Amino acid sequence: MDACKEAKRLEEAGQSHLLRFWAELSAEERVEMTQDLRDMDFQEINGFFQRAMKESGREKQEKVDSRMEPVPRDVLGSVVSDRGLLKAWEKEGLLHISQSKVAVLLLAGGQGTRLGVSYPKGMYDIGLPSQKTLFQIQAERILRLQQLAEQEHKSRCSIPWYIMTSGRTMESTRDFFSQRNYFGLNKENVIFFQQGMLPAMDYNGKIILEGKGKISMAPDGNGGLYKALRAEKIIDDMQQRRIGYIHVYCVDNVLVKVADPSFIGFCAQKGADCGAKVVEKTNPTEPVGVVCQVDRQFQVVEYSEITQATAEKRGADSRLVFHAGNVANHFFTLSFLKEVVNTSEPHLLHHIAQKKIPFMDERGQLIQPDKPNGIKMEKFVFDIFQFAKKFVVYEVLREDEFSPLKNADSQDGKDNPTTARRDVMSLHCRWILNAGGQFVDKSGNQVIPSPSLVSATGETLQCEISPLVSYGGEGLEDLVKGRKFNSHHPIIIDEKGNLALLKNGY
Ligand code: UTP
Repeated sequence: MDACKEAKRLEEAGQSHLLRFWAELSAEERVEMTQDLRDMDFQEINGFFQRAMKESGREKQEKVDSRMEPVPRDVLGSVVSDRGLLKAWEKEGLLHISQSKVAVLLLAGGQGTRLGVSYPKGMYDIGLPSQKTLFQIQAERILRLQQLAEQEHKSRCSIPWYIMTSGRTMESTRDFFSQRNYFGLNKENVIFFQQGMLPAMDYNGKIILEGKGKISMAPDGNGGLYKALRAEKIIDDMQQRRIGYIHVYCVDNVLVKVADPSFIGFCAQKGADCGAKVVEKTNPTEPVGVVCQVDRQFQVVEYSEITQATAEKRGADSRLVFHAGNVANHFFTLSFLKEVVNTSEPHLLHHIAQKKIPFMDERGQLIQPDKPNGIKMEKFVFDIFQFAKKFVVYEVLREDEFSPLKNADSQDGKDNPTTARRDVMSLHCRWILNAGGQFVDKSGNQVIPSPSLVSATGETLQCEISPLVSYGGEGLEDLVKGRKFNSHHPIIIDEKGNLALLKNGY
């Protein structure tokens, strides 16, 4: 490296300590560190830090309660109260899909620290009988939806799948898809791109070293999406493909309805440029942000930003007033995304997350702190709601559409592999019931599946239906109508529509 030049740049930015161990580095380590340093714009990073810290100090002092209003009815669609409109929305969504105007965009750049696996979260197998990973489940839902749209409109179509990874997850994600032949999807329609990374910093704005020649880096949040869309020329790719609508979602929601035609159709019919799917928040202390208006602009407000009294406020119908729980499931038009990416996003501030960040101390020892010692800077995917000209909200049922995989299994834990598996199987049991099937115990008595799937006699119901056979519960009547299934044997409907273990059914 031009040591003098880099040293000067670091000194000017108040980050000279990064070269503290330079003399001890091997030639190889020096090359790597040089590369890392060269890629960094320290003035920009310092600016992000100062603005983010200032904003976070202000946010801490100021609660937004008095400026908040719930989602108005006229921008709201609901799978419960608007049941009669669902078919029309679905029809409209399927039409756009059949014209190849709908793309899905997966946010998969997170580190998955809470789940605690060393590989990308999408490669996780939640323990379903089929042992499918999250990526495979989502891929198969896309394939099935393409098929449904083609059947309905008699035209070939594709749903491009944009997958955002980060420096840490890109290679293994790509390899995983390639080794599995893209799960049957056309390779051309699976597009990987990479989000940016930012260094972790201590509370004084000093970049943290995690090794003598290694800077502690983390992805810049799921709102890093917008910068990446520009930098990686994804907007251009969408334009070339004549995409009109984009469904953005998180990798860890095992129940996600990718490119949900009803959601797309609802947003499109309303002429929205931006939309958010929500589920009802019933517990005021649940750590999920709520979609609402602040100073008449839509945004997501976190539990920590409001007083407990506001979080607990209930309306005449006894529901929480602020009940629109954000599930990170969004609709955007391409023109809205283009506008955001080119003009508004660069002005958004980073949020700060206080973390326990391993660091090299002055003596060159790696320290694992037991309390937060620094920050990571992140933007959030929902930060851009405020720029929407027409924002809509679509309320769905939690048990049908939202079960995030965040944590490793632990007793009484939530949002973990056990709850994810149970929620998928519980939904599939309900599909069987809706399609006219029945569950019975060893004595032939009818069993009504409980949400925990454990029957009165202690048996756990197991049921898994391949997404290649059913996207949302459709198409199962021929297979299950009028049939009784032993609740103590797993029921598996595979990709060919075969009822595996049928011998266990009556
Ligand atoms: P989370 O905020 O739950 O983070 O991400 P995570 O990385 O999955 O897990 P923890 O917090 O380290 O345990 C919500 C969604 O946003 C994506 C994740 O991949 C997930 O789909 N995400 C998060 C990104 O794409 N990039 C990021 O920088 C952060």
